[in-house]
Amino acid sequence: MKIIIAAMGANRVIGAGNRLPWRVPEEYSHFLSLITAQTVIMGRKTYEIFSKDLPSKRNLVISRGHKQYARATVFSSIDEALKEAERHPEDIFFAGGATIYEWALEVADKMYLSLIKGEYHGDAFFPPFDKTKWEIQSRVDHPAFQFIVYSRKKS
Ligand SMILES: NC(=O)c1ccc[n+]([C@@H]2O[C@H](COP(=O)([O-])OP(=O)(O)OC[C@H]3O[C@@H](n4cnc5c(N)ncnc54)[C@H](OP(=O)(O)O)[C@@H]3O)[C@@H](O)[C@H]2O)c1
Repeated sequence: MKIIIAAMGANRVIGAGNRLPWRVPEEYSHFLSLITAQTVIMGRKTYEIFSKDLPSKRNLVISRGHKQYARATVFSSIDEALKEAERHPEDIFFAGGATIYEWALEVADKMYLSLIKGEYHGDAFFPPFDKTKWEIQSRVDHPAFQFIVYSRKKS
């Protein structure tokens, strides 16, 4: 299964100055529990921000640069990373940032979206998406965020 996972504020903000705009530990723990032992595809900045916490089995980082990482494999395109991810049985999570989400919206089967309560400013945003192509499978209210699972509608 290919799954987009993101936390966003009311205006679809996901990041501010290369960090999360909020501090919501229960949402962050929830995110980490969902990606545990799975494959995660993410942009280079996202990896550098979250790398120390990631409990994923496989971290595939997208970068045009030549940096190498001890706990991740670097790919120069999302397409190549997805091909590698699909060789393994684990779920594939697209964990941001903005361009990775935009690309993943075309291929993902599901979206795990945490809507953080409150207003936050930022400089990175989840892309707008066509809600007619997705249906809500579940919606769970937590004190600081709402967790929504979307499934792609069968065409
Ligand atoms: N709220 C959330 O759920 C969430 C999730 C993830 C991230 N974030 C936030 O989002 C921000 C980071 O996201 P971002 O969108 O700025 O950056 P990003 O996607 O994490 O990283 C951008 C970098 O990824 C590489 N890249 C992206 N698309 C590529 C492509 N098509 N081909 C080759 N390389 C590509 C490039 O790396 P090189 O420069 O090395 O070439 C680019 O500079 C931070 O503020 C972070 O906190 C939030």
